[in-house]
This record gives sequence, structure tokens and C-alpha cells, in this order.
Amino acid sequence: MQATRERVLAALDEGPVTGPDLADRLDVSRSAVWKHVEALREAGFGIDSTDDGYVLSSVPEFGGPAVEYGLDAPFEVEYHDSIPSTNARGRELATAGESDVVVLADEQTGGRGRLDREWDSPSGGVWLSLVLRPDLPPTQIPVYTLAAAVSVATAAREAGVDATIKWPNDVLVETAAGDRKLCGILTEMEGEADRVSWVVVGIGVNVNVASEELPPEGTSVQEQVGAVDRRAFTQRLLETFDDLRADPHGVLDEWRAYAGTLGKQVRVETPGGAVEGEAVDVEFPGTLLVETEDGIVRVTAGDCEHLRPA
Ligand code: BTN
Repeated sequence: MQATRERVLAALDEGPVTGPDLADRLDVSRSAVWKHVEALREAGFGIDSTDDGYVLSSVPEFGGPAVEYGLDAPFEVEYHDSIPSTNARGRELATAGESDVVVLADEQTGGRGRLDREWDSPSGGVWLSLVLRPDLPPTQIPVYTLAAAVSVATAAREAGVDATIKWPNDVLVETAAGDRKLCGILTEMEGEADRVSWVVVGIGVNVNVASEELPPEGTSVQEQVGAVDRRAFTQRLLETFDDLRADPHGVLDEWRAYAGTLGKQVRVETPGGAVEGEAVDVEFPGTLLVETEDGIVRVTAGDCEHLRPA
């Protein structure tokens, strides 16, 4: 958000403030104050003119300025009502040198999932991509994907959804009819053998998506507990991710706390063949340890299926 607008909102947070007071505090002219207030109103903020001065009466339900307002994490938010894919836009920004930007959309018309599958992204979801330039070697980037899953599970649980994580990063709700997917994560990166240039962590959460709009294997926050405040949900997700990235090794404990995979019989399709056994633990930066008939096998990548107990 434009810096002076942020300062206008910060001043309004403290209570009513008159135009001349605002002009003094921000060291701008009264007409500039008026323009900033109008711009914030156009962005959806309710700012009432009262006898005591301007009063902030409401914050927009969703959007860039709404998510940035009160966000306790250093991300700039680029919002789109509709966009083909936030990851595609994130890659553009990353190649242009941007960092710590979140591309956020209400709807995607060409959302992509893993293995280049289509990803349904109707209006009402939280479709976002984090553009990052981490100081980590490429081999450690999987931990960002785990951190993203923990962030979504944290926001979902706080919203009342009994979310668990299927290795490595699917956030699910386990139902009697089987696992239902709440969120998918697609991490893309560019770099050299020992140095990451950029990472785009794409996160798609079915938040306020009606049951009729979900794929058969999907679920949404709305389906589980009713519609929620998407602004608060997105802020919680971003703030958790920001905390987790500060301590990459600490991500694993948080991941274990939400893991639905550990202790289950699994079958993981890896590039080197299928691995079947009990998932017993996860190691940095996200390796799954599977106890098979032949001993512990370490799996770094693959499609994981939770098997029903025999
Ligand atoms: C998966 O296959 O499970 C990953 C799905 C990732 C979808 C998200 S939605 C936001 C971002 N933009 C995209 O086009 N994809 C990711």
C-alpha cells in the first residue's frame, strides 16, 4: 500500500482525527489528505466524516489494501479480482527482481497444479503466490513447501476446520468417505546448483467456495464450518509463513503437529518406483521416512497415498 495511505490508516486507528491534524502529522497539504482519504474510500475502506474528524468505520472484506491493513508481516500484496494464474504472475515479478510480494486473487481462470494439472479456482477462494528470494541452497527449498502447508493448516484450524497435512504439503480434511483436499501448494524456483535466485510458493485454499463448485475430491472451509473472513484467514496464513521462514529447521516440529501421514500405512509413487510401509517421521528439509519390509526408506519426492488399514 502507498506509504502515506498506510500512515493515514494508522492515524485513524487511534481514533477520530481532523483533516488539519492529519495534514500536520503526515506533513502534507490538506488537499493531499483529502485525496488520500478519497483513495482509501475507493479501495473500500469506510471513512466517515464526523464532528470529531475522520473515523474508520469499516475495512473491505478482501483485496490488497484490506489484507495489507493490520498485516504483521512484511509482504506487499498485489491483488487481482481475476487473473489466469497467481503463480504465472509471481514468476514474472520474480524474474523482474521483486521479493516479498504476494500475488493474491479472488478467482483464477488458468490455475495450475502439480504435474501441470488444472487447478479449479472459482471466486471465493484464497489463491495466492509468495514471491521470495531466500538465502537457502536449492536442496533446502522443500522446507518452504512444508511451511506453506503448516501456515494453511494453522489458519484453517483457527477457523474451526479439522485440517491435517498429507506429506508433503496437501492440506486435507479426513472424512468417513475419505480424504478431502482443502488446499494445494505448487512451489516453483529458479537458481543455480548452490544458489536460489527466486522461489514462488503458490497456495490455493478452497475457503468460501460452495460445495457445488468443488471437485469431487475437494472440500472447503465453507463446506466444513461455513463462510469465514477471508481477509483474516489470509493474514493468519501469511503471518505464520513469515514466522516459520525465519527458522527453517523449526518448521518440522510444527509440521509433525499437524501431520496426518505419520503413523499411517502409505504408498509413495517415487521416480524410482513405489515405496510402501508405515510413515514414521519427517527429516529436514522435508524427507519422509517410511518403514518398509526392507527397513527405513527415505523419500524426497513423490505422490503419497494414505492406505486404509488392512
Ligand atoms: C496441487 O496440484 O495440489 C497444487 C495446486 C496449487 C494451486 C495454487 S492456486 C495459487 C497458485 N496459482 C496457481 O496457478 N497454482 C497455485
